[in-house]
Amino acid sequence: MCRDEIQPINLFIRWGVSRAVGLVVALMSSGCGAEDSCPELDVACGVDPPGYQDVAPILERRCVPCHGAESSTSRKRLDEYSRVLGYAPAMQEQLSSCGMPKDGSLPARERALLLEWLACGASK
Ligand code: HEC
Repeated sequence: MCRDEIQPINLFIRWGVSRAVGLVVALMSSGCGAEDSCPELDVACGVDPPGYQDVAPILERRCVPCHGAESSTSRKRLDEYSRVLGYAPAMQEQLSSCGMPKDGSLPARERALLLEWLACGASK
């Protein structure tokens, strides 16, 4: 009986949260070339350079599914700092041209952060 009362509330909350997230995403992508499939980014190293700990979760989520120990491109692993560092120039090239990930699943904000990290020397 209690569940029946709680479920619609949960649904409402989820609906509200996903709409809020959708709105934020829409606001972020508007005005910076939403139709452009690969907006050019002029990334320079800022005053507060990101470190590996800032980009590792992005790599983990967006790249490691294909670039991990047990994935299709297991020879190009992006799951550890020392390995990632070896691919820094190739990553910079891929991210600048939106070559990776091929399906365009990398959000612009994450792409920008990765590029900034690389521009700052891919520090630990
Ligand atoms: C859907 C799977 C997939 C995802 C996700 C993915 N990659 Fe790749 N990546 C590949 C494949 C396949 C290749 C080609 C492998 C080869 O040529 O040996 C590749 C190649 C590369 C290369 C080497 C390019 C070169 O110069 O040879 C780099 C660097 C790279 N990916 C970086 C990334 C980064 C950074 C991410 C995350 C932002 C990412 N990839 C996400 C599948 C993926």
